Amino acid sequence: MSLLEFDHVSYQYPGEKFNIVDDLSFSVEQGSFHCIIGISGCGKSTIFRMTNGLLKPKSGSIYVGGRSIVEQKHYCGYMPQKDLLFPWRTVGENLALPLEIMGGRSRAEQRDLIDDALADVGLEGCRDKRPEELSGGMRQRAAFARTMLTGSDLLLLDEPFSALDFLTRISMQEWLLKQWEKHQKTILFITHDVEEAIFLSGSVLAVTKTPIHTLTEIPVPAEYPRTRECLTRPEMVSLRENLIDVLRKQVQP
Ligand SMILES: Nc1ncnc2c1ncn2[C@@H]1O[C@H](COP(=O)(O)OP(=O)(O)OP(=O)(O)O)[C@@H](O)[C@H]1O
Ligand SMILES: [Mg+2]
Repeated sequence: MSLLEFDHVSYQYPGEKFNIVDDLSFSVEQGSFHCIIGISGCGKSTIFRMTNGLLKPKSGSIYVGGRSIVEQKHYCGYMPQKDLLFPWRTVGENLALPLEIMGGRSRAEQRDLIDDALADVGLEGCRDKRPEELSGGMRQRAAFARTMLTGSDLLLLDEPFSALDFLTRISMQEWLLKQWEKHQKTILFITHDVEEAIFLSGSVLAVTKTPIHTLTEIPVPAEYPRTRECLTRPEMVSLRENLIDVLRKQVQP
């Protein structure tokens, strides 16, 4: 069953002369993990901003769970590209945000949910710390826990690991796959890192042309659960090189 569907969606930023997203249709199956790759400025984050309702399409419709998103609230968790945690709030207060927005829970219930979510991402005992007291990887895990607390099936993660050093990044990738397997969410994940995309995705959604009219779906020939060893298989190496080629051709016409 498809969880997310774009039906002939277009978007034009005010002041721009053309649609950045132009008559785009695609759908995403429930429980899948897709990375979206494409060159900088091609409109990847714009797709997320429309999916979460921050931007309204110029035309076309977006459906989640078969219903138009204009009739729904709290249908997706969104982890933006920047400004992950509010520095003036403690970690616990940051995680409380989606619960405060949704309402309907007592302070004590919120506290229990937050403690469980922090334990789930290995951050027990960090509730009263400020974001600046955490390492980069810990901050990403806290932001992920906050995204999970929306309770939504659909998670939109915009370059969540791009600011991390290589070793932290690969351990976060393994950690994220475990979280996905455990919680059975549907994840869309934007990245510039082709190796990250093929390690995580069931199939990669590539932006091969702008304006974005289609997303090219490229299956990844590896089963889950995965370990990094799969990246050394010849078919994975050639997929990685092909994808790098596809992206390069767009920056060096
Ligand atoms: N608020 C805005 N007003 C006008 N143009 C915008 C606005 N935000 C983004 N754009 C333009 O729309 C295009 C797509 O932006 P978007 O942020 O979706 O790109 P992206 O693919 O996520 O890029 P990156 O990989 O660098 O994050 C860019 O060319 C950008 O300049
Ligand atoms: Mg972006």
